[in-house]
Amino acid sequence: MIGLDSPDDAAVWRLSDDKAIVVTTDFFTPVVDTAYEYGAIAATNSLSDVYAMGGQPFLALNIAALPDHLPPEISSEILRGGAEKAREAGVVIAGGHTVKDKEPKYGLVAIGFVDPRKIISKSGLKAGDVLVLTKPLGLGVTTTALKQEKVEKAHINEAIEWMCRLNKTASELALEFGVRGGTDITGFGLLGHGLEMAQASGVSLHIEYLKLPFLNGARGYAEQGIFPGGAFDNKMYFEKSVKFGKTIDEPAQMLLFDPQTSGGLLFGVPREKLEALEKRAREMNQPVWVIGDVQPGSGAEIEA
Ligand code: CO
Ligand code: CO
Repeated sequence: MIGLDSPDDAAVWRLSDDKAIVVTTDFFTPVVDTAYEYGAIAATNSLSDVYAMGGQPFLALNIAALPDHLPPEISSEILRGGAEKAREAGVVIAGGHTVKDKEPKYGLVAIGFVDPRKIISKSGLKAGDVLVLTKPLGLGVTTTALKQEKVEKAHINEAIEWMCRLNKTASELALEFGVRGGTDITGFGLLGHGLEMAQASGVSLHIEYLKLPFLNGARGYAEQGIFPGGAFDNKMYFEKSVKFGKTIDEPAQMLLFDPQTSGGLLFGVPREKLEALEKRAREMNQPVWVIGDVQPGSGAEIEA
């Protein structure tokens, strides 16, 4: 149903009228300096693409590349972080494969089920939808500040908490309200992933800057120019499709291209359902921010 012709968060294969299988993989080098948290973040991120499709993951395999000299207790902490996060998600890690490599890499192959009639895809946004985001932005700048040894402890702890948060309830919330257009915010940043959806759905995104949630340290690190390399690549690639309001300065613009590790879901919901969705989100203890809306047209417009 979904594969290379219409790239999305995961591949989807129909098994029957009411069941399809969702398959995805993702792995990356350490984003934090504690092994357990790194494993948990990598697993959360790998499972996120199943949730982004409206699926429920149930089975996973480890993919690991580990240096020869890495102490065995570090390797096992990485895998334990991944395993405990999988358990929290109700996912069984049933095997995997490890190779040797200079720099550690870890992630999962994740497999889930989705009802084919309820798939959430990048092409499902409709003009008139309201845009909902489920985690704050600024994860890229904050982890880069950690790498550059410029981070404040409270800021990185806040980022770790969000990166370890499964997109499970966010996905369940979206499904409950019949959401069909959504994705997770990861390496291409808010605007990269937002523009993928705008293009696939044939619509334009209107985002109100002041409604965007940011981690506490994000603006400060952005003002110091602490961005991962990917942020500049994203800007170069995507900025031609974005119109920024006059008052949105350079650090603010860059924050919207900041790659997010294990970011939240971005989805569209009809305006008339918004009030009920926000109420249900509170009951589920699932944070949501309304950041703008979907209009006819193309590209993205960022208003102050
Ligand atoms: Co994704
Ligand atoms: Co992915």
